[in-house]
Amino acid sequence: MTTVSEIFETMAYGPAPESDKPALEWLERHGRAFGLFVGGRWTKSKNGDGFDVINPATTASLARVTQAGAADVDAAVAAARKAFPAWSALSGHARARHLYALARAVQKHSRLLAVLESLDNGKSIRETRDLDIPLVARHFYHHAGWAQLAQAEFAGYEPLGVVGQIVPWNFPLLMVAWKVAPALAAGNTVVVKPAEFTPLTALCLAELAHEAGLPAGVLNVVTGDGRTGELIVNHPDVDKIAFTGSTEVGRLIRKATAGSGKKLSLELGGKSPFIVFDDADLDSVVEGVVDAIWFNQGQVCCAGSRLLVHEGIAERLVAKLRARMEKLRVGPSLDKAIDMGAIVAPVQLERIRTLVSRGVEEGATLWQPSWACPSDGYFYPPTLFTNVAPAATIAQVEIFGPVLVSMTFRTPAEAVELANNTPYGLAASVWTENINLALDVAPKIKAGVVWINCTNLFDAASGFGGYRESGFGREGGKEGMWEYVKPDRGLGLGTRGSGGAVGRPAHKARAVRSRVPSPESRVPPIDRTYKLFIGGAQVRPDQGYSRKILAPAGALIAEVAEGNRKDIRNAVEAAHAAAGWAHASGHNRGQILYYVAENLAVRAAQFAGLLDAMTAQGEAAARSEVEAAVARLFSYAAWADKYDGAVHQTPIRGVTLAMNEPIGVMGIACPDEHPLLGLVSLVAPAVAVGNTVIVIPSEARPLAAAELYTVLEASDVPAGVINIVTGAKDALAKVLAEHDDVEAVWYFGTQAAGADVERASAGNMKRTWVEWEPRDWTDSHQGEGREFLRQATQVKNIWIPYGE
Ligand code: NAI
Repeated sequence: MTTVSEIFETMAYGPAPESDKPALEWLERHGRAFGLFVGGRWTKSKNGDGFDVINPATTASLARVTQAGAADVDAAVAAARKAFPAWSALSGHARARHLYALARAVQKHSRLLAVLESLDNGKSIRETRDLDIPLVARHFYHHAGWAQLAQAEFAGYEPLGVVGQIVPWNFPLLMVAWKVAPALAAGNTVVVKPAEFTPLTALCLAELAHEAGLPAGVLNVVTGDGRTGELIVNHPDVDKIAFTGSTEVGRLIRKATAGSGKKLSLELGGKSPFIVFDDADLDSVVEGVVDAIWFNQGQVCCAGSRLLVHEGIAERLVAKLRARMEKLRVGPSLDKAIDMGAIVAPVQLERIRTLVSRGVEEGATLWQPSWACPSDGYFYPPTLFTNVAPAATIAQVEIFGPVLVSMTFRTPAEAVELANNTPYGLAASVWTENINLALDVAPKIKAGVVWINCTNLFDAASGFGGYRESGFGREGGKEGMWEYVKPDRGLGLGTRGSGGAVGRPAHKARAVRSRVPSPESRVPPIDRTYKLFIGGAQVRPDQGYSRKILAPAGALIAEVAEGNRKDIRNAVEAAHAAAGWAHASGHNRGQILYYVAENLAVRAAQFAGLLDAMTAQGEAAARSEVEAAVARLFSYAAWADKYDGAVHQTPIRGVTLAMNEPIGVMGIACPDEHPLLGLVSLVAPAVAVGNTVIVIPSEARPLAAAELYTVLEASDVPAGVINIVTGAKDALAKVLAEHDDVEAVWYFGTQAAGADVERASAGNMKRTWVEWEPRDWTDSHQGEGREFLRQATQVKNIWIPYGE
């Protein structure tokens, strides 16, 4: 027998196993076979297919679950639809009570859920017990609060309806909570599909929710693989899809939902940088790295998988890391004293092995600890690569395993460049004792979350989500709630009281009374052919074609340049060159918008004449459209220094800053109604918050936009901030949606062209805002406000702990 003094010598750990008994009893109670949880009860699949769920730490089968087919998904969606009217009609307080009850149920059964999660996923009980399940409860508590406050805090908004939610296997129950809690709080009903490797805790939650009194059909759980996911995505009676998983599947979902009108949020992959400056506290850094990449076996979308180290300290840090890795313990997930558990499934283990071999082939230096992993499950050791080239496969591709790749930099600028050198933008972590440096670097990193001197911190009060190909939408906090509501337009568009409306359009076409000389005049009109407006200058179109713009009665008013693909490319380049606009102060941007408004007002009569000529809306209505455009410019000049972020109440000693950042280069295809006001209503919010834009005006009525060139020139708008390309609107919008250097596209027009835009946007996962139902742009509720500003920004949450 080993003596105490021997243990003092070796400091070897004994096993500290958590009992699996309650979880196994729960499985046995269900005969180790699960149907679907639909309409408040267990149901059997119509097609009878199923598959085994495996414990990855032992390879033993845990249970058999259902592969839901089309009829099953239909039934689940129907149950959710049936439950929707009553659930959404409940008072916020009543829904809050239900969410509170759910939080309590999770807490009461926390150990069962933690053990079940460890068995199913292979992750350590230490993590499920101390992190996953407490955060699940926290999410339900936090969102009970949003349900309580919904009527006041989301006034003018309503729930979406039935929400389809598809989650991955890395945080099985936590991802369910991230999705279900805000959806229910906002008054939606839900069909959720857990990942095929890890469905057990979602099923257990459904049962607990039922016992806690959640009405039947509000939360439905269907199991199955990607085919079941596809059925949910394509279901015609689902109003929104919320997905977390690989960028590859996210892209498929973006394409599949294009033109369907389904709201979409995607939380996708990442290759997050972990940046260490030479003044960082290296011992803290080492523990930070452990949490960044060896937490959950590195199967974390925001894992700090790329270590970027200041050159001078790289050698020292790598030596410390290797020493720490040597001490990490890999083993059975229910052992309370292990650091890392098992990889979720053989296919994932194989993927890690393949990518690690690729790293070696491409010349990087591999290092792994001297000890061997247990051989009776799917284990993989902590792994460190040095000498990695920034373009190497392992530096670019998400490995989703315990593999860290390290690179060095010399200056902060180089660190930022390396950090941003992937298509992803989920998270980043910055380590330095110099707060000035940290806060200078954080805004420059393209990521939805930045942790300063910390990593992998999550809380229900703070938004989480990506930039670029890491997806769009936020989960958590008020930011996340917006994903589950839509503006409530009352009984239909335009029926609301005027509420500050600035003049109604006259719907009947009147005789043309243009102030613009018509060809019938005895004096021949001065030829007016508008060019394009790119990089602050009026330029001829690439192809040299123009198109005639006619009055409704058929008379020629003027010609505009016919822009093409090349012109769009030039405009995108100009918009990128104007990136400094994002760093102008809000005050400065506001001043320029006021100046545009002033210059437009001076020429109001001329613009009204043009509008009247194009639309025959009558002089008074045209005049009031111009006035409305001036007022709208004033609104966004006002907003420019007022669209603030927030400081979230997260449970750290420190602050979590939620900053509204511009998205970058945006394409905007304008509506045909109100050719001036529609354009101004979209362009002004976009530039007010710091984006630069390529605008495609109404195809049939582009003259007010073209006339705007001279107003912009006279108003000190920096070159490239607003670029205007006239021509075939839908074709040009598609070019913008396909362009990899455009970060967002707004399209207001037809459903078919909107679908093309959404489909094409999947290339670089750009943000889109597509509408085919007309708005009343003259109504200030519909035509301006926070909805526009939210669409024009993305939130970055920066976590800054403080204290000694
Ligand atoms: P995945 O993206 O295929 O699976 C995520 C979820 O989507 C699962 O519930 C799955 O059943 C479902 N799904 C799959 N195909 C679908 C489709 N066509 N339509 C609708 N739903 C569909 O991820 P997978 O295959 O499990 O892992 C592959 C790689 O993806 C990993 O190696 C990792 O790199 C990445 N990944 C990233 C995650 C993240 O949180 N960022 C989470 C899971 C995986």
